[in-house]
Amino acid sequence: MSDHLTIIEHPLVQHKLTLMRDKSTPSAQFRQLLHEISHFLAYEATRDLTLTTKSIETPMTEMEAPVLKGKKLALVSILRAGNGMLDGVLDCIPSARVGFVGLYRDEETLKPVQYYCKLPEGMEDRVALVVDPMLATGNSSAAAIDLVKQSGCRDIRFMCLLAAPEGVARMHETHPDVPIVTAALDKRLNDKGYIVPGLGDAGDRMFGTK
Ligand code: URA
Repeated sequence: MSDHLTIIEHPLVQHKLTLMRDKSTPSAQFRQLLHEISHFLAYEATRDLTLTTKSIETPMTEMEAPVLKGKKLALVSILRAGNGMLDGVLDCIPSARVGFVGLYRDEETLKPVQYYCKLPEGMEDRVALVVDPMLATGNSSAAAIDLVKQSGCRDIRFMCLLAAPEGVARMHETHPDVPIVTAALDKRLNDKGYIVPGLGDAGDRMFGTK
């Protein structure tokens, strides 16, 4: 992929996103909507994967039919909110391996602190899709992508539900080679690092915590 930022303007995505933003939407529906939007994000993030062909027989005739060629995929979920996107992406790419990066945000400095990292083998030969619903300051995403790069992976794409301009700028500055696919680019961050208008804390909305 080459474009740094892709916003999915599909009407179904925008409608579902509005339901997610609404503070009266309960956790179960919020999770389901994130799962559904993750399908669209996965299609867009994999749009340029290369194809080859193989010979198959349909009930009617033989044909040379397209199949994916080349690199295997790895999904990397940034805990904990990234897990809300995993199953949706795996619906589209069931054979992908899955890794996890655990980072929490220090509420004072807003800087990421790593507490867990487990990535699949052979990352240097994989395309990595890093998932986290909220690209806010960009600090956690940039740190997670640092870890993925340290594993030797060179083809990395970042998928999120919402992005703030500050997060996009930070990613552009730290990882200009990593394209971002999102459902919306919001206005700004507030002084606590939350996206405005946003949808609140994605992890809390998803899991009913507070
Ligand atoms: N993380 C969230 O869950 N929400 C925000 O608005 C910013 C970071």
